[in-house]
Amino acid sequence: MNMRQLIRSALALAILGIPFLLGAAIWAGGGLSAQGEPPEPVATRSTPIAITHDDGFVWSVNPDNNSVSVFQVADDENTKVAEIAVGTEPWCVAITPDDSKAYVTNMASGTVSVISTVGRNVIKTIRVGTEPFGCALTPDGGKLYVANHSSDNVSVINTTTDRVSRTISNVGAKPHGVAISADGTRVFVTQFLALKPADDPRPLTQSEGADDGREGRVTVINRQNDTVIGVVRLAPIADSGFRSDGNTLLREPLTTVFDNVTGAFPNLLESITIKGDLAYIPGTCSSPNGPFRFNVNVQSCLSTVDITEQIEAFPTLNMNIGVAFEPVGTRLFNTNPFAVAFKRSADEGFIALAATNRLLRVTLNGDGSPTINPPADATDPGNIIRIELKDPDEIGLVDDEDRIGGQNPRGVVLNSTDTRAYVMDFLSRDIAIVDVSGDDPTLYRTLARVQSADLPAPGTDGATVQRGKYLFNTAIGPVGTQPNSVRPAGRMSDTGWGTCYSCHPSGLTDSVTWMFADGPRQAISMESTFEFGAASIVNGVPLLPDSHQRALNWSAVRDEVQDFTRNVRAVSGGGGLITIDANGAPVPEGPAGLAQLPDLRPTANSGLSADLDAIATYLAVGVRAPNSPVPSQLGTVIGRVVFQAQGCHNCHGGPNWTISRLDYTPPPAPEEIVDAQLVRFLCRVGTFDPALFSDGVSNEIRANNVANVQARGALGFNVPSLISVFASAPYLHSGAAATLEDVIKNVTHRTAGLSDGSDLLTSPVVQRFLVQFLKSIDRDTRPIFSVSPTRPGVCGPTGS
Ligand code: HEC
Ligand code: HEC
Repeated sequence: MNMRQLIRSALALAILGIPFLLGAAIWAGGGLSAQGEPPEPVATRSTPIAITHDDGFVWSVNPDNNSVSVFQVADDENTKVAEIAVGTEPWCVAITPDDSKAYVTNMASGTVSVISTVGRNVIKTIRVGTEPFGCALTPDGGKLYVANHSSDNVSVINTTTDRVSRTISNVGAKPHGVAISADGTRVFVTQFLALKPADDPRPLTQSEGADDGREGRVTVINRQNDTVIGVVRLAPIADSGFRSDGNTLLREPLTTVFDNVTGAFPNLLESITIKGDLAYIPGTCSSPNGPFRFNVNVQSCLSTVDITEQIEAFPTLNMNIGVAFEPVGTRLFNTNPFAVAFKRSADEGFIALAATNRLLRVTLNGDGSPTINPPADATDPGNIIRIELKDPDEIGLVDDEDRIGGQNPRGVVLNSTDTRAYVMDFLSRDIAIVDVSGDDPTLYRTLARVQSADLPAPGTDGATVQRGKYLFNTAIGPVGTQPNSVRPAGRMSDTGWGTCYSCHPSGLTDSVTWMFADGPRQAISMESTFEFGAASIVNGVPLLPDSHQRALNWSAVRDEVQDFTRNVRAVSGGGGLITIDANGAPVPEGPAGLAQLPDLRPTANSGLSADLDAIATYLAVGVRAPNSPVPSQLGTVIGRVVFQAQGCHNCHGGPNWTISRLDYTPPPAPEEIVDAQLVRFLCRVGTFDPALFSDGVSNEIRANNVANVQARGALGFNVPSLISVFASAPYLHSGAAATLEDVIKNVTHRTAGLSDGSDLLTSPVVQRFLVQFLKSIDRDTRPIFSVSPTRPGVCGPTGS
């Protein structure tokens, strides 16, 4: 501790001394129930916000401030009493049953901070796996389970010694949310991203892009011996309840008749909450088959697991069903559900809807199946209860809704008497205190919001990033004039439907292959859209080409992030953020404005809307590349030599691990463009097969066409960055390669970097070293600069 820290701690102690004594007093009495009996053990779960068992204090993490805040909440005191520095990007907090210690996972640091609740100081930092996210204590407090999102394992911490007692491997990919049964025998861990079912016989070229191509998964661990004892499969929903006017994979082009049933699979399994014999898992379902329209690409899902039988209990509930019967002015989709908390003494719970800034009430039927009580038809008012996260004095400031009130709620916890809900608002960096007492749910309301951590100072680049991050994660945005963009909705999507987050969680990728207008397209992870540390932000816009940005999309059909306003208007059905075009002409809201907002030419889309530019700024500087779980070791060192000897760096070289980098200020010169693609950035590496269109069943087909057309790809593909490539399976534009091993099996591709076409990768042993190196690449890996041209005729315009 240096002098400044010492003085700061001394001051903090002096200031906090009084509330701390008070807290200790409350705690002394609070561990026991009124009768003096120890409280009934309850199921636990990972959450960014937790309450002490005596209901005295709420703890909430501040992922963007690297701290955790403590609030005194007894008797609705609702004041922040401490903010404790922890590691980088804390996402989960768990409090021991005796309220003496708090554990916080630090995702970017790869550690768990152990905090004394009495001294409110970090007493120990425990190294765990890579990117620890979720955490939960056993109800008896004996063990802490930590889900390591990027090393695909679970660390078990003995809370007596505060050491890792066991690391459980084979828990599946991207372990994320954790819940432990009330009897303490079973630990449930969600796998964040959906995966291909093992019993799906279709090749990836047919299952990728299909609405039933993946399933959600929850891993079950036996607490006694810390071994994996099962995996619960969350099946795709066969009928999402929303119809499409075409079916890309079945070769039915866009019509005007909405008669095609669409399905969706559970994805982005954010968290898991146990009540009774069931576990409830909120997430965003993906419906990747085209053609797209705002209500047939993502859904708001709640899956259920029978924790005794360890099987899915009911088909996944789509919480968007019924929305069409809500009147305009009330109608709002329930977008990006992140967490659910239930009352102990009632079959009622609350879901944090991150993208629509609200809590949604959910009730349980007799069999435990959940419902949000939607209207059944236009004559039925239904009973959907959504609670706004606004201070009483913020209500009524309707037009500024997306700049006031709690933003992006990601966690919710109830007190033990079921009277208060506490909500962690990620992007407004506060907690909301909600009164959920009484018999009339229509009277539930937010009592207060209390700041949890500082926001970036207004006018700074940090504030621009924050605004962009908000817009990226919200389904609402500024108010518009069309019925679908007036409050409670806004310009970012049709009636609060969609977000960028739905396909790009944390600015990264959902790993889904979407049947887009160019063909089957893996959502692109955007940690490397701009070269890290190279962005030049001027007046809230990343300057091009100075900011070292890639040509965009697999087919290099775009050159500015601002071009993605087209997705807002076309796919999400939103009003859009640009109101005046490059020539100063007014742009109508929604799809009608698309003609004035070109992908490439003749005008640029940067600088037309401060809000849209803020999204670009967020992507330029605000997306963190996942940390690789593979350390530098002999195998990776050999693999690096192989990479270089094989000339991979002639395409995947440089600090951004791709040679794709804009070198002009948009718009591009007309001769840059062939078939709507920036052809200079494309390389043909043998990964495109036209037969996968002509066979009539595979996915190399473009969505939204009046007649069926082969997907783009014949001219080659924009070279992807290899930063954190370990994290984004499956691979290639169409998801056709399940693993990195599969990617380098393609001889045309792997030999494309050497002018003589020689192949050093014929031996499986050498391939294995190369894959080890690929898996180790992240932002800390020393770059390899491209030196020589690729094999002639591979990159750039055909025939050059
Ligand atoms: C329905 C899923 C989906 C949604 C919603 C979505 N994206 Fe994407 N995004 C994709 C896919 C798929 C690609 C690759 C598309 C291609 O190559 O044709 C992509 C590519 C991108 C890229 C190119 C990155 C690069 O380095 O090439 C950017 C930028 C981007 N998206 C930004 C956004 C923004 C901003 C939003 C919100 C307005 C958004 N996306 C919403 C699926 C989505
Ligand atoms: C001539 C340029 C070129 C060379 C040389 C090259 N690649 Fe690629 N690489 C590409 C292109 C283009 C793609 C995208 C192809 C597609 O999606 O169909 C790609 C895709 C990949 C991917 C998948 C990334 C993702 O996110 O899906 C990996 C991994 C990869 N390459 C590794 C390598 C390795 C290892 C080597 C050397 C053995 C290599 N590449 C050589 C151009 C190249």
